[in-house]
Amino acid sequence: MKEKLQDLLLQSLIDQKEIFGDELFETKNLKRRTSVEFEPQTERSEEVKAQKEIIPTKTLSSKKEIIKEIPLIEEPKENWQFSNSLDELNQLICECQKCPLGKTRNKFVFGSGNPNADVLVVGEGPGADEDAQGLPFVGRAGKLLTDILKAINFSREEVYIANIVKCRPPGNRTPLPAEMQSCLPYLKKQIELIKPKAILCLGLTSAHGLLKKKESLTNMRGKVFDFDKTKVMVTYHPAALLRNPNWKRGCWEDVQLFRKLYDELANIK
Ligand code: URA
Repeated sequence: MKEKLQDLLLQSLIDQKEIFGDELFETKNLKRRTSVEFEPQTERSEEVKAQKEIIPTKTLSSKKEIIKEIPLIEEPKENWQFSNSLDELNQLICECQKCPLGKTRNKFVFGSGNPNADVLVVGEGPGADEDAQGLPFVGRAGKLLTDILKAINFSREEVYIANIVKCRPPGNRTPLPAEMQSCLPYLKKQIELIKPKAILCLGLTSAHGLLKKKESLTNMRGKVFDFDKTKVMVTYHPAALLRNPNWKRGCWEDVQLFRKLYDELANIK
């Protein structure tokens, strides 16, 4: 019996040498390697692999449980986030110092208009007049905005007007991305409270700030975007129209489309 086994073993070694040369393979290891390589990476196969690597499956699943149990760390909410009205929100944020614009402003420009407006107009940021009065769009650009709204049958009083940043950037420069980023949650809260049907962004800074898109104004004009569940359209900033009156025609076309969108949303025939 022993001799027979020895003969068999010798024969098998001779066969292997013929096929693989001098390298010696153990049948057990060869099988194991190929079977793991072609297994799809399912949870089951992970468990099988773990067993093969002598990791107890108990440890594997309890690791998963621990990961599930680690809570996501949420930023604690600030008081203003619980505001139930625009007035309350304004009171809670008007002393804001989250960005450097807080140091250089005269007045915080929260926004103004109808707190239940169906239309929200969003500009870039306060200029010198707005900074002095604490109200948005009160200078020359503001007068033009009133006329633009009138041209599509909206009065200033029935809409709400706000800006991407609530404090004047020194020298009327474009607000920095970080300044917009720190102020945007306030505008979002205003939108949540006003619940407008449609938003009109004035200029590229306003559109980029709200929609987080990096397209050109030309690309965005005439299109309808979504901000959460609110429809948004984009047109020129009135200050740009004061500098380049040739754009007024384009703005006229944009706001006609905006009025059409609004009428559809409000079901006005
Ligand atoms: N320009 C703006 O973008 N907002 C204002 O409030 C005034 C001028």
